[in-house]
Amino acid sequence: MEVFETIAGMRNARKRLSEPVGFVPTMGYLHEGHLALVRKARSDNNAVVVSIFVNPTQFDPSEDFQTYPRDIQRDLSLLEREGVDIAFTPSVEEMYPERFDTYIHVGGVTRRLEGASRPGHFTGVATVVAKLFGIVKPNRAYFGRKDAQQLVVIGKMVADLNMDVEIVSVPTVREPDGLAMSSRNVYLNSREREAARVLWKALQGAKRLWAQGERRTARLREEMIQCIEEEPLATIDYVSVADPITLDELHQCRGPALASLAVRIGKTRLIDNLLLE
Ligand code: PAF
Repeated sequence: MEVFETIAGMRNARKRLSEPVGFVPTMGYLHEGHLALVRKARSDNNAVVVSIFVNPTQFDPSEDFQTYPRDIQRDLSLLEREGVDIAFTPSVEEMYPERFDTYIHVGGVTRRLEGASRPGHFTGVATVVAKLFGIVKPNRAYFGRKDAQQLVVIGKMVADLNMDVEIVSVPTVREPDGLAMSSRNVYLNSREREAARVLWKALQGAKRLWAQGERRTARLREEMIQCIEEEPLATIDYVSVADPITLDELHQCRGPALASLAVRIGKTRLIDNLLLE
């Protein structure tokens, strides 16, 4: 595996790769969820590029950019083992040199859910992903379904800006008790880790009602809220049942619906979702 820290190095190496090229953008501190993306990219393509870059523009000043977990040596050895061709590990200065001043703002779908709770977050995500696409020039790019809104936002950006890349979504990887894998799970102490099971439990509650034929979203939301409120360490940020494409909140489901939630367990903000269909 080759490792490049500069855009010029990455670009040169890209010319030698045999297509199709699969790309997995990450912020590092890799877990099984990332490795599932890498494995899917490996099986679909002739070459695989993975980026590791903790992107400052998608963090609000009050968020955890400085303390976001990092372990580049461990990440690189995991990627090497997965048969990745290139790891791209730029610095903040390389990606955002002085006087950098162009941002991609995706409209309506960024105003709700994560976008409402984390203003500016998706502008940072769209901007860095567009830059990475411009540098790596992948044929396909892989994203996890745990960040369901991120997938919608990136799909919209790619369609609206006619970017020539196929977006592939990969199912969420979960711990045996259902907790979605996330680099932020490392923040949880053992009591909080136990409490964090409530996200999956709440989504399962909504799924159970859905399977019984419930289509009133107020009932589905109420079920999830009640379940979370039973956990003393949990504070709800949002609980939503929305249209999976527009992310508009639904009153009554006529087709599939995306149940999603953001919950603070102690100081750690976790998200999860489940497609009801
Ligand atoms: O999902 C992530 O880890 C990040 O949002 C991404 C897509 C790598 C952009 O920084």
